[in-house]
Amino acid sequence: MIEYRNLRIALLGAGSVGSQVARLLLENRDELAARVGAGLDLIGVAVRDIDAPRDTAIPRELLTTDASTLIQSADIVIELMGGIEPARQYIQLAIASGADVVTGNKALLATHGPELFDAADRVGAQLYYEAAAGGAIPIIRPLRDSLAGDRVDRVMGIVNGTTNFILDRMDVEGDTFENALAVATELGYAEADPTADVEGFDAAQKAAILASLAFHTAVPVESVHREGMTTVTAAQIDSAQKAGYVVKLLAICERLVDPETGIEGVVARVHPALISRMHPLAAVHGAKNAVFVQAEAAGDLMFYGAGAGGVETASAVLGDLVSAARRHVAGGPGTGESTHANLPILGIGAVITRYQLTLIVTDKPGVLAQIAGLFSEHGVSVEAVQQTVATASAAGSASESDALTATLVIVTHEATEAALAATVAAVSANDAVVRVESVLRVEGETP
Ligand code: NDP
Ligand code: HSE
Repeated sequence: MIEYRNLRIALLGAGSVGSQVARLLLENRDELAARVGAGLDLIGVAVRDIDAPRDTAIPRELLTTDASTLIQSADIVIELMGGIEPARQYIQLAIASGADVVTGNKALLATHGPELFDAADRVGAQLYYEAAAGGAIPIIRPLRDSLAGDRVDRVMGIVNGTTNFILDRMDVEGDTFENALAVATELGYAEADPTADVEGFDAAQKAAILASLAFHTAVPVESVHREGMTTVTAAQIDSAQKAGYVVKLLAICERLVDPETGIEGVVARVHPALISRMHPLAAVHGAKNAVFVQAEAAGDLMFYGAGAGGVETASAVLGDLVSAARRHVAGGPGTGESTHANLPILGIGAVITRYQLTLIVTDKPGVLAQIAGLFSEHGVSVEAVQQTVATASAAGSASESDALTATLVIVTHEATEAALAATVAAVSANDAVVRVESVLRVEGETP
């Protein structure tokens, strides 16, 4: 049997994920060596502060603040520092030095992915990033490898654990957004500044990564339509429940034909949406993540698990490390990101979906017919209507309380964003409409 020399592994970052990677790499040395066919020597761990407290003990002699020197002595560099700089220049340095790279840095890949993939491609290096979307969930490799012979039409995921935890608590416990966020912070799911999660920035980065892979097209994060979930109210959750839906923050990446231009392209979007309680994504509770993939030949697939967490994410990083190390031993080409399809990126206006509108209207004869007429005028077909008569206290303002009002919850059949926007404008301008309480998209047929 051929004996291979040990591979030199450099780790950049020893925070939540990095410290667990270091621990598992040291504890499972023999097992990993057997799987790779060569030993994996952790030659150093770059950090900002050598004396900072760590989740797990790392031998002090491995810690260094000199990342550049460490990188240049490595066969494989694992980047788990996060942020754009200096992570970007360290990955470039690793590639230029002939090393392969494993990273979990979604912010960096969503903004500078093409530049890094090109650099790796030019020298035949590998750039693995299973941890960058969905934490522990294997989703990058299935999209890149397992489905490489299929045609993916849609990827719809719950890719942010913090927001799923909040929305799930609002749904199951009847909590308000503020209370649910406070619990998420107390339990360590939400950061001190939860903006990236609740405003959908984190999910948009993951959507850009998933869309790029699924559709063989570079999808920049700026092109992802993003709406946060801070405006979701307990009333909307309640109304969704009554209609058999649950509200989730969804990242949706789809291949579609723009109804205006006839051009086929890709749309990626992140926003709160209603989904049927019968849909597999509705069963994703707490801080868990899941990605639902629809492919032409494979049909519907779902990938479920922990989207974050130090040790859980370390599993994905080590999987990448073993793959990279095996190629070092066996040889062969780099991973190579395929962007050959180069589909146009379409705006949210190209999306065709269903909607749920909640309207507060004056309760008098003919109002329902008038509203139905406005939907019909704009080519939006109504699927279901539910009316409840509001109490005076629920009416919202002094003038409203003079007249009897009703709440109309209308679910539409599929319509374009443009037709829906025109309908909402017409409905808002109608004298019988006190206000448009909410408009939410309804996603995913019940499989
Ligand atoms: P942490 O903030 O916990 O750790 C960051 C580490 O990087 C620290 O050890 C820090 O050093 C080190 N570091 C930061 N800047 C520098 C620098 N300029 N030079 C040297 N070292 C530096 O991050 P996480 O472990 O949470 O995340 C790491 C990556 O993994 C990120 O890209 C994140 O998006 C991704 N990820 C994280 C998940 C999670 O659940 N945490 C899930 C999926 C992906 P020091 O300790 O000295 O401060
Ligand atoms: N903050 C993210 C979440 C975890 O709540 O899912 C890292 O992507």
